[in-house]
Amino acid sequence: MDRRKFFGVTAGGIAATLLTKTNLHGIALPFDQDVKFQPDYLPFAPGVPPAPYQFPKDFRWGSATAAYQVEGAWKADGKGESVWDRFAHTVGKIKGAATGDVACDSYYRYKEDIALAKSLNLTSYRFSISWPRIQANGTGPANPKGLDHYKRVLEELHKANIHPLVTMYHWELPQALEDKGGWPNRDTAGYFADYANILVKSLGDQVNTWCIFNEPNIFTWLGYGTGIHAPGRTDWNDFMKSTHVVNLAQGQAFRAIKAATPKAEASSAVTMADCIPRSSSEADRAATDRYEAYRDFWFFDPALKGEYPKPLATDELLQSMGVRPGDMEVIRVPLDFIGINYYDRCVCFAADANGPAKVDTQQGEQGPKTENGWEVWPDGYYNLLTKVNARYKPKAIDITENGCAYNDVPDEKGEVPDERRIAFFRGYIGAVARAHKEGVPIRSYNAWSLMDNYEWAEGYSQRFGFVFVDFRTLKRTVKQSGKWYAQLAATGKLS
Ligand code: FCB
Repeated sequence: MDRRKFFGVTAGGIAATLLTKTNLHGIALPFDQDVKFQPDYLPFAPGVPPAPYQFPKDFRWGSATAAYQVEGAWKADGKGESVWDRFAHTVGKIKGAATGDVACDSYYRYKEDIALAKSLNLTSYRFSISWPRIQANGTGPANPKGLDHYKRVLEELHKANIHPLVTMYHWELPQALEDKGGWPNRDTAGYFADYANILVKSLGDQVNTWCIFNEPNIFTWLGYGTGIHAPGRTDWNDFMKSTHVVNLAQGQAFRAIKAATPKAEASSAVTMADCIPRSSSEADRAATDRYEAYRDFWFFDPALKGEYPKPLATDELLQSMGVRPGDMEVIRVPLDFIGINYYDRCVCFAADANGPAKVDTQQGEQGPKTENGWEVWPDGYYNLLTKVNARYKPKAIDITENGCAYNDVPDEKGEVPDERRIAFFRGYIGAVARAHKEGVPIRSYNAWSLMDNYEWAEGYSQRFGFVFVDFRTLKRTVKQSGKWYAQLAATGKLS
């Protein structure tokens, strides 16, 4: 199942019959769904190439990775087992039976990776900390070896003059906590707050920007709803409960960060979509509003507005999620920025499925597709950025992820000519430029990803990096797109 399709359960195949290529914005498009992508056909939908744009000098250009996807060393230095270790070691869960046991070996090669980022002129480096490296079983005293590792990583970044953007949780729940009930268990919020407290107390002098959760809307749903990600459970109620516990954890962690380091900034990174109704029917529009409430706002509204977004949040749903008096006060915190991961837009329609959401989704079908089948449609990104800005009026927005899978490999000269990735980034950064020009306070762009890595249930089958990784030798080779991005990072000039 496409992991982006997360309230939906039916196959996207019906898309072709139900969605014409002209009906969304009433615009005729040069692409036919079946036509293979031509590199000289740039996907600047709907037909507007990005205008040249000069980003300000202090705009940060960076990349993003996550511990499980790059570190390997899954048992080194006292690290405990995470739900992803367990899941990836379970037969039948991951394409090609791939695991993150070695991944890119970045636990040992972090100096090389930071040197690569430096060579690409990056000024921001988003990475995550593996919880079971710090607390093998998710509770109790910290493992000094785990902390020392991240101290060294941070030291290296500071030496290179690169701003660390540190994610506390990119999906590595210690398996011992899953055994106690995982995220649907309210106690997990307290355990997480303790972990956050350890991190700020030990690393707080080296970190100014914390990203508390990565994609809380995804790991709860795919982990407890559809089961296609760790820990692989499939229960609608557990999924919705887990979202509330994560919101509680976010509030508590934010307070822990501010108590120890008042000057530090903290928020989370939510993967948002440009949500559009499949038809103009009342039913599809209402379904879109319910979907969007979950997909885009479920983890920012409670923090910033003190309530779950309607129309999805009915009294009945909140009750089934276990919301108690006083919870919303714990959850409500003034997050310092909005972290946005963006990959796709979602075409929504009413469906008699999926509990209270009663909505299904499909991909947009107007743009060309990346190699893993995600639609390329930069205008959706612009729409989303302006919508989020209007809703929260944030002080700052960090683009915490955005990227594409194309599986280009080195040619006979050893170069990786990945023009499609360059085209993708020109289009998407063009959308960021448009929003920025109109006053949306975007201050950094962290591309997914610095290098090819372990793509969760897809194993090593999807390459998202600026740097090619040969997974047999672990050799890194900067792709043409990496060189292109290095230029942009050096000059801030998109052309
Ligand atoms: C995001 C994840 C990230 C990576 C990209 C492709 O959903 O946060 O770890 O897998 O997708």
